[in-house]
Amino acid sequence: MSAPIYLDYAATTPADPRVVDKMMRHLGQDGVFANPASRSHMPGWLAEQAVEGARRQVADLINADPREIVWTSGATEADNLALIGFLRANRARGRHLVTSTIEHKAIIDTAIALEAEGFEVSWVAPESDGRVSPEALRRVMRPDTALVSLMAVNNELGSINDLAALSAVSHEFGARFHVDAAQASGRLALDVEAMGIDLMSLSGHKVYGPKGVGALYVRRDPDLRLEALIHGGGHERGMRSGTLPTHQIVGMGEAFELARDERERDARHVDALRQRFLDGLSECQGIHNHSPLADSVPNIVNLAFDGVDGESLLMALRGLAVSTGSACNSASVEPSYVLKGIGIPRTQALASIRFSFGRFTTADEIDRAVDEIRRALAGLRRESETLADTVPNRQTATNHR
Ligand SMILES: Cc1ncc(COP(=O)(O)O)c(C=O)c1O
Repeated sequence: MSAPIYLDYAATTPADPRVVDKMMRHLGQDGVFANPASRSHMPGWLAEQAVEGARRQVADLINADPREIVWTSGATEADNLALIGFLRANRARGRHLVTSTIEHKAIIDTAIALEAEGFEVSWVAPESDGRVSPEALRRVMRPDTALVSLMAVNNELGSINDLAALSAVSHEFGARFHVDAAQASGRLALDVEAMGIDLMSLSGHKVYGPKGVGALYVRRDPDLRLEALIHGGGHERGMRSGTLPTHQIVGMGEAFELARDERERDARHVDALRQRFLDGLSECQGIHNHSPLADSVPNIVNLAFDGVDGESLLMALRGLAVSTGSACNSASVEPSYVLKGIGIPRTQALASIRFSFGRFTTADEIDRAVDEIRRALAGLRRESETLADTVPNRQTATNHR
């Protein structure tokens, strides 16, 4: 069997070959493998130099100072550090956190854990296009709001929040503004200065870097303090202890530099693929696109298909590597909370699939994917029509499942 066509770039991307090459040179005995905290010898200094070079590469993509980058194991840890670390360190500022109902679980579950610790959380509902409006944010802001956390790009829909406007509202109330930018780096022009961002979570593996590494941008401001979640050798200015994984870090640095150089080319490539994909499916009846075409990244297309259920369609699309809703929720049979959150009816949400494209997706792969979707849809719809003809009481039967 040939390998499926990979259309799940929003779940993770393959590492770029240039990233892999750089990582390989920082792993083995003949490379720069030493502990970057070993200041007593040359191999340690070389590793430290490599880590600091990568810190600059990551900082440059978001217009930050390298001293504002704290390495973590990924965006999940960065989100935890931002929310828990900030709120615990700033109890005197207030106990109120604001976030949205369609954030990634790394934010939602962290906010729920903070509620159990005595913090209060307000959950803003997004508009039907998956964006949080500054007016909706303003309605829940309070004098004791310490932190607002909103994502840059939604991982299931691709919708883009107006970060500058949302940060302005947060700051008007004296709150700090955290952004989960896991899906945004390499896809949007991010500028923490121009957008007024205080904390920003980043991930390596969504941008053709390795899995298991990420970063938290922490604005250099004496009033912005974080309490560490991981204690140990005092690495990363005491905010995150643990021996730095040099090979992962240089991989993320290289990926972020490539993202800076190639972002516009990647965007043009993926935009053309999205158009080709949607054009290819335009003759099929009963397809709903949940991803807005404006104010969205072109690499994510979330479609619902009338007359089929998502699981059967996913089974029929064996030649495609795609996901229903967020990859992190793939064990769940509940409809995606993100789709529910923007008002998509349950049956339609259950019949939804996220297709996501990337740097290495080809036009030929899109054409083959379109063919496969068309064939699968026609087959499943034919089957359900036949079933409806032979089982007149099908509606009742389905309700008991
Ligand atoms: C918006 C968003 N935030 C956070 C994460 C978690 O990132 P990581 O896998 O680096 O922990 C993801 C990845 O699925 C994501 O899409």
